[in-house]
Amino acid sequence: MSNYHIKHLEEYYKVYRKSVREPEVFWEEIAEEHFVWRKRWDKVLSWDFSKPEVKWYEGAKLNITENCIDRHLRTNGNKTAILFEPNNPDEEAQHITYNRLYERVNQFANVLKSQGIQKGDRVCIYLPMIPELAISVLACARIGAIHSVVFAGFSSTALATRINDSDCKMVITSDGSYRGKKTIDLKGIVDEALYECPGVSNVLVVKRINSDIDMKEGRDQWVQPLLDAASKECEPEIMNAEDPLFILYTSGSTGQPKGMVHTTAGYMVYTAYTFKNIFNYRSNDVYWCTADIGWITGHSYIVYGPLANGATTVLFEGVPSYPDYGRFWEVVEKHKVNQFYTAPTAIRALAKEKLEFVNKYDLTSLKVLGSVGEPINEEAWHWYNDNVGKKNSPIVDTWWQTETGGIMVAPLPYVTPTIPTYATLPFPGIQPALMDENGEELQGNQVEGRLCVKFPWPSMARTIWGNHQRYKETYFSAYEQKYFTGDGALRDAVGYYRITGRVDDVIIVSGHNLGTAPIEDAINEHPAVSESAIVGFPHDIKGNALYGYVILKETGESRVHENVSKEINQIITEHIGPIAKLDKIQFVSGLPKTRSGKIMRRILRKIASNDTSNLGDTSTLLNPEVVDEIIENVIK
Ligand code: WT7
Repeated sequence: MSNYHIKHLEEYYKVYRKSVREPEVFWEEIAEEHFVWRKRWDKVLSWDFSKPEVKWYEGAKLNITENCIDRHLRTNGNKTAILFEPNNPDEEAQHITYNRLYERVNQFANVLKSQGIQKGDRVCIYLPMIPELAISVLACARIGAIHSVVFAGFSSTALATRINDSDCKMVITSDGSYRGKKTIDLKGIVDEALYECPGVSNVLVVKRINSDIDMKEGRDQWVQPLLDAASKECEPEIMNAEDPLFILYTSGSTGQPKGMVHTTAGYMVYTAYTFKNIFNYRSNDVYWCTADIGWITGHSYIVYGPLANGATTVLFEGVPSYPDYGRFWEVVEKHKVNQFYTAPTAIRALAKEKLEFVNKYDLTSLKVLGSVGEPINEEAWHWYNDNVGKKNSPIVDTWWQTETGGIMVAPLPYVTPTIPTYATLPFPGIQPALMDENGEELQGNQVEGRLCVKFPWPSMARTIWGNHQRYKETYFSAYEQKYFTGDGALRDAVGYYRITGRVDDVIIVSGHNLGTAPIEDAINEHPAVSESAIVGFPHDIKGNALYGYVILKETGESRVHENVSKEINQIITEHIGPIAKLDKIQFVSGLPKTRSGKIMRRILRKIASNDTSNLGDTSTLLNPEVVDEIIENVIK
């Protein structure tokens, strides 16, 4: 018997040791006992990190939606699967039962089929946080189409790049979205994007805000009449374990985003098993993750992980500040939420407001508090623990990535003693390694290095869509036979991990993963700009904010600077989205470079962080004189 639900610390260590000693046996038992398969696997695992190639449950056949929906109908058909809480608190919440979810997913799946979508086709989903987002994701999975959800805060250019990179045939969107007091014209953004996307012949539009939009003849259709006419039965497509389930883009060190490919069986097993344990989910709990389904957190821990466990998962359309800063806690009280999972940036923003916004609500239903997306600082941790959890709900600080598919390092609530800022212990099956500068693995405890993983786990991404070489170079080339995460970490005296932050050119802003290169590419599009460099600096709500150093082709007056600054942020908004806007822009005559021409970002980072006491040796730079100039004119 596998210890599917781990209940105390000794049991965790026992299970963990087994997962390392006999990984195949370990993952076989879990797969066997907790999922439905159409055909059993021939081999649990085969792998070679040098290619890299990883296969889990090879030979098995299944459909993930049978595991997330059908199998719960017999016993839990009338249980709420998705609890939709709208942006406007006056609009009624919707309780979508497993029975209803089954029908709605099947209808959507039948519509996709009737529009010519087949197994293996890519479908881009660009929707706000409404039930149709989860339903269309599951409908794709039902028929074996590969979904590529693009977060609805991304710009038309970013959307077009993602649609084209994976050759999506269809886009599913809505007439618009609500966001606090505002409405956003999503369909207009899609129209703009599709000028650049000749491969898209079909757009399905969900009605959400009843706005007056253009429908392009022969391309755009309202989805509701099609759904109304569709059958509520749709036989699931039987998939191979390693068939792609979805593509999800993450930014990287070049302008082209990386389409991470996740496959079916391993992803299902890992997200379900982690969900059960890391959120200590019990059958009547109401679980709420505030992320957007447009990010991996939403894929794994709003949709697939919870539904595979037959859970009730809240889908929230709104924002934490509307109609006021008490919204999260109002929703927790209203739906008696038991597990609440959010990002440090949201906690920091709410901690700045009056405590009254929290204290006014009854939060006694809460049992587990989660954190994800960036390191949670000590102050935010204590605020969360004291005021939301009333020192009674363990905080699970969960470290993972788009690429890892599921949570990798996290405490198990009521099992692992927590310490602020520590993600604590690896989940069973995860074998972390810390590497030193010479590429050697650091042994023992009380060490700090670069975080790698040295053994495959079921939900790891298998490739980058259309570019396996880049997958290999980005993740498997820094250290031989190891997956490199891009993060630094330390292991303390008892073996707990603390993530210290990115060691590459990715900056986490408000929990969003932003590569510096795409932003610099956007800035350099400005006709007056000759070169630029972006670094992160500490920000009390966002965690990090962006600081841009910009060289103009011709030196300008301050009024010119002001205009160019505005235009730069405008271009960034158009190319990437408002999340990537710069907080500070400094115009400089040069950037500190090494003799080989590499920008010394370390120095720029220190200057932007007002930490110039120890810049190290700058004399080896090509142009040491610019350093003083930059320090003198730094934007405080
Ligand atoms: C990067 C991955 C998968 C969750 C959403 C972000 C940082 C994430 C933590 C944490 C410290 C964290 C890392 C990681 N990160 N969670 N609990 N503590 N850092 O997914 O956009 O792929 O970003 O987010 O730097 O590499 P992502």
